[in-house]
Amino acid sequence: MRLSIIPKSSGFTNSDDYPKMSHLFLFSFELAPSLTTMTTEQDECMGSVKGQLAKLFEVSLKITVPNEPDVEPLVAACNGKFGDYQCNNAMGLWSKIKGKGAQFRGPPAVGEAIKSNLPTSGMIESCSVAGPGFVNIVLSKNWMAKSIQKMLVEGIDKWAPLPPVKTAVVDFSSPNIAKEMHVGHLRSTIIGDTLARMLEFSKVKVLRRNHVGDWGTQFGMLIEFLFEMFPNFEDATETAIGDLQAFYKASKQRFDADPAFKERAQKAVVRLQGGEDKYRRAWAQICEISRNEFHKVYQRLRVHLEEKGESFYNPYIPGVIEALTKQGLVEESKGARVIFIEGINIPLIVVKSDGGFNYASTDLAALWYRLNEEKADWIIYLTDVGQQQHFDLFFKAAKRAGWLPHGDSSYPKATHVGFGLVLGEDGKRFRTRNTEVVRLVDLLDEAKSRSKDALIERGKGEEWTEEEIESTAEAVGYGAVKYADLKNNRLTNYTFNFDQMLNDKGNTAVYLLYAHARICSIIRRSGKDLEELKNKGRLVLGHKDERDLGLHLLQFAEVVEEACTNLLPNVLCDYLYNLSETFSKFYSNPECKVIGSDMETSRLLLCEATAVVMRKCFSLLGITPIYKI
Ligand code: ARG
Repeated sequence: MRLSIIPKSSGFTNSDDYPKMSHLFLFSFELAPSLTTMTTEQDECMGSVKGQLAKLFEVSLKITVPNEPDVEPLVAACNGKFGDYQCNNAMGLWSKIKGKGAQFRGPPAVGEAIKSNLPTSGMIESCSVAGPGFVNIVLSKNWMAKSIQKMLVEGIDKWAPLPPVKTAVVDFSSPNIAKEMHVGHLRSTIIGDTLARMLEFSKVKVLRRNHVGDWGTQFGMLIEFLFEMFPNFEDATETAIGDLQAFYKASKQRFDADPAFKERAQKAVVRLQGGEDKYRRAWAQICEISRNEFHKVYQRLRVHLEEKGESFYNPYIPGVIEALTKQGLVEESKGARVIFIEGINIPLIVVKSDGGFNYASTDLAALWYRLNEEKADWIIYLTDVGQQQHFDLFFKAAKRAGWLPHGDSSYPKATHVGFGLVLGEDGKRFRTRNTEVVRLVDLLDEAKSRSKDALIERGKGEEWTEEEIESTAEAVGYGAVKYADLKNNRLTNYTFNFDQMLNDKGNTAVYLLYAHARICSIIRRSGKDLEELKNKGRLVLGHKDERDLGLHLLQFAEVVEEACTNLLPNVLCDYLYNLSETFSKFYSNPECKVIGSDMETSRLLLCEATAVVMRKCFSLLGITPIYKI
């Protein structure tokens, strides 16, 4: 096989790229056009509000400080009493330009200039300067209302971020054959699926990869044990073997206790790797049994993954190691072949002292494949934080080889997304009462059956069909497990607690799913045809609580952008929870009566917009919405 290892240069012109991708959302316009020209096409809602404001401030900054061409506009939502957004460039700019004969006298004057050079725009109601030059923006209610209504008509996909990435690999879940799929793999599956969904929503082509551990010396032992237990090994079906983990344990005991067995197992590895048919078939059979078990989890969680296990990359390893050796990166150390990284004591072992390949060799070959064959610009790995050092070393090796650019802001990029532990009530690693490990399938089934019990308790058994009960119990139960995981910053450990996650109050999936169902029932009760209202009615944001809700809805795009850029699903969870709270405030205010009021049409549209945004959040979090409670 011939391998060409060509460092791929970043295809993006914007070298500052992803974290500052606000530019990409923006429309272009002439300098300081009149209000009338601005309010037609250019006021179309495209991408995030923050991004659109940043574009306006970029124009202003160019006029304000023409000699400082590359000033990045610093715009942030502030939701304060002075405005909805703030531009914070004045102070920083002042320290850059003072002493250079600037025409300004201090940051407030810089702020004033930024304000007066801002192009006129239909999105801005008013603008003021506060303190040391903060430029505050109050958005136009009219523009806000129009943007929301436009989203209702054209669909929420119009609010998707557009990151400068074409193809991403998300390497997640990735359990090991014949070993238990543990809660760490569950976290990887849940978080990875959400990140994949957010990227997919952002129009990135996502390769959802299950990098299962299906290769390695342990297979010699497993295969030999299989032959011993089932002389006719084809009969060794899932039912015959039963628990593959117990099978693994028993074979390991045999391996440790009997030197003759051990020798046979070691020979079996060689025969397997040499491609001998019988060994290959035994291996495939063991993999298949595990795969069926993993599948039960994916099916419940509705997570889609494409398996490309470690074995897939095996044929690529020798070529990759050879190329790295030719580049002078691989050195001998204590019989092994390793790559040293400056400033780190331990090297990355790429060939073990017995000549075998390891986890790192496979990861190097997989990265090579993903960059060169799959042409991925962003490769994201999800494992617990315990593997951080491995990824750190391995990414640095790839940088030394010139596969990845130095620095983390240009593409192609590899990112390790680490996460903390799942803890039990005792504060230790999560386990169930009597078994050592938690079977994930049992865990998910319990979540479902508990939520089913709760529905029956609430009398739904008489009201709903069996099918409705089942599907609601699944949506709520699995949704609760996912949300309890996603709402925390992924780096922190969290405690697994059914009662907490299935509580219908507080920041839980149950509360949020019910909140959504309630909005749907308000709309149903109105008896109105929302399709018609969207096109013929008019949304206005007259009351403060309506405006607050509208502003929150409009911030969806920038929140998804942030969650996606920093790979933090909890940012989206916070947003969703706050959206629900903001909606409650609006809906429970007697001044904002919906059905039967003069403002019914507008308020129904606002309800519908809230439901649409909530559903998109659920969809990005992999949670199935429910429509009635
Ligand atoms: N199978 C590994 C484990 O269970 C996770 C693999 C993660 N992906 C990777 N490319 N290393 O820990």
